[in-house]
Parts: sequence; C-alpha cells; structure tokens
Amino acid sequence: METQTLATNTARRLTAAVKAAAGALADGQPVALPTETVYGLAADALRPDAVVHIYEAKERPLFDPLIVHLPSRDWLDRVANIPDGSRAIVEALMARFWPGPLTLVLPRRSIVPDIVTSGLETVAVRMSAHPVFRAVIEHFGLPLAAPSANRFGRISPTTVEHVQSELEGRIPLIVDGGPTEHGVESTILKIEGGELQMLRAGPVTPEDLGGVFHALCEARNYRPTETEVAYFFERLGVSFSAMLRGESSVSVEAPGQLASHYAPQTPLRLIAPGVSVLIYDQENEVPARLGSLAFQEPSTAAEFVCEEILSPAGDLREAAATLFAKMRRLDEAGLDMILAEQVPERGLGIAIMDRLRKAAAQHV
Ligand code: TXA
Ligand code: MG
Repeated sequence: METQTLATNTARRLTAAVKAAAGALADGQPVALPTETVYGLAADALRPDAVVHIYEAKERPLFDPLIVHLPSRDWLDRVANIPDGSRAIVEALMARFWPGPLTLVLPRRSIVPDIVTSGLETVAVRMSAHPVFRAVIEHFGLPLAAPSANRFGRISPTTVEHVQSELEGRIPLIVDGGPTEHGVESTILKIEGGELQMLRAGPVTPEDLGGVFHALCEARNYRPTETEVAYFFERLGVSFSAMLRGESSVSVEAPGQLASHYAPQTPLRLIAPGVSVLIYDQENEVPARLGSLAFQEPSTAAEFVCEEILSPAGDLREAAATLFAKMRRLDEAGLDMILAEQVPERGLGIAIMDRLRKAAAQHV
C-alpha cells in the first residue's frame, strides 16, 4: 500500500488535507493525525470494520482498548453513561481541561463497539485541542478511535517522520501537523463511584487535578480535612505526605499498558544524576558504545558516543516535548546501551519518569 503524507502549512493545503482525511475516514480507512500529545492513528470509532484496521496496522493485540476522541463535548453523554455521583467532577474536569491532554475512563454506552473497549464495560474518552485534529474530526462529525500512531510496544511518534518510519506502507494517509506540543501521551483518569484514579501520568499533573478538587470544595463552601485531601491524592497515586515535603512520589499504571510499553530496541538503564558507571562489552572486551539521555547538563558519568540533553534550561515541559524524539535518535545510533538520567519527579517529571521506567523495564 502506498502511504501519502499531506502538509497543512498553508490554508489551502490544510483545507485539502482535512477533506482528504475526512473522506478516507468515511471510507473506513485509518488515517494518522497530529494531536497535542503524540500522533494518533484514527478510524471511525463506531465502525468495527474501520477500527480493525488500526489493530492490524499497529500489530496491536485486541485486548488493549482504544481511546475515543470526541468531535464536541455533547458527544460525551452519547458514548459514556455518567453516574449521577460523578457528574460534578466530570463537568469540572471537562471545563478545565477539554479540549486538551486529559482522557477520562467512564462507564460506556452500547453505541461504542466491543472492539474499541476490548469488551470492557468502560470507555476512555478525550477531546483533542490540536487545530488539525479538530478540523478533521469536526468535518467528519463522528467520534474517532485513535491510539498512538506507532507499532505496538514501540515509542509514540511526536513528528511526522516518526509516523512514517512506524507505519509507511501500512496505512493510506498521514497528515503532517509538525512536531507535537506536549510530547507525552494524555493523562488517563478513571472515574468510578465519584472517585478518581490516575491510570497514566501525563501533561495534566496531580497538582493540576488538585486545583480542580480544591475549586470544587470552595464552590460548595467546604473545607476538606487533611485526611480528605490525602485520600484524594492517594487515588491519583500520589503520596500526600511526599507532596507536603515538596516531592511527589508517584505510582501509576494503566491496565493494558505493559511494563515494556515505551521501549527503544537498545537496552536503556536509568541512572541517578552524577553516578559514575563504566560498562564493558563482555564478548569483545571493549568499553561498550554508550549513549546518554541527560536532563539538563551533559552527563559526566561515562564516555559517551552520543549525547542528548532534554532541556538545558531544566524545564520539564520542554524535556517532555523532546523526550521521545531524543530516545528515538539514540535508538538509531547503533549503541550497546542508553543511560538515562532520572529527572525530578514533580509536574511533568512524573510522566517522564513513568516513560523512562517503562523503557528500562523492557530489558531487565
Ligand atoms: O495522548 C494520547 O492519549 C494519545 C493520542 C493519540 O490521543 N493516545 C494514546 O492512545 O496514547 P494509546 O492507545 O496508545 O494509549 C491508550 C491507553 C492504553 O494503555 C489503553 O490500555 C488505555 O489507554 N485504555 C483505553 N481504554 C481503556 C479503558 N476503558 N480502561 C482502562 N484503560 C484504557
Ligand atoms: Mg500507545
């Protein structure tokens, strides 16, 4: 199959690309589209025969459910069955973070095919803020199932070149929207019985969500006790006592997200900043070809063939935005091992550390 890539960098090209993408989607074809997090591989979410192409192109196992992207907020109640007790929190989260990088897992309605939810009784929904994605989905008019546009188990694509190297020849159309803004996948929040659980760390941080919690309490003239605040953060996977100390120690997991989800082919090891390591290639008795993925400053830990720095300014947002591209570049450099330096585990650092741990878990 020949894969066409369409540009959107002039008004005329954008119009043509949107029309072509909506047309292919209406034909039941999968189309790669930019979102504000990573590129997604989209298909008509309400048509199992269209959604199956996503699983085929990605070689994704059918037990791993897809995120449904909505054309507008009023679609939410058509795909999800929001329990009365959860209405207020869902409305508050939507008002604050949609469109944007927050996915909500809610009880599903039967309009959503089983192949999208992998037979689960819940559906993951989000509304992308990317202008190109929005233009396509508004033109198309129906929800789009869209996982990240990479082959299963590989690094999510943040540029059109990444999508091409993952899916060229497997899908008919890619729409180029330039490099993505956040660079890591959306935060996933499960809402059940009025309680929140963070399934995946992402651009919307526990601190951001805490702001919504406090605003909801304030609107009701209610002052939460320390225990209630602690409980709220615990449901997000954050230790409240650690937050009070100014560190947020976090553990999050998404079911269907295998530990090895964000894996480069090259073994990757996490190291503390400033730790000294020397690694030998035992077969050939020579120092191994090492690559470095450092946070702010060139690492002095070892001799590196190849070095990438996530953010010289120490900005976690910039670090997240370039993380996957730099991981890919190191992966393509023919290294024996990548040494990745830990980043501070606060704000977007939580999502970065989550992805680095998963990349490291691949090779233990
Ligand atoms: O930023 C993003 O979320 C990107 C862009 C393209 O929207 N999408 C994305 O999709 O990262 P994907 O499929 O690569 O990751 C979605 C994750 C998977 O780990 C899946 O298991 C989980 O969401 N998921 C989907 N539906 C779920 C459900 N009903 N319950 C729990 N987890 C679910
Ligand atoms: Mg993915």
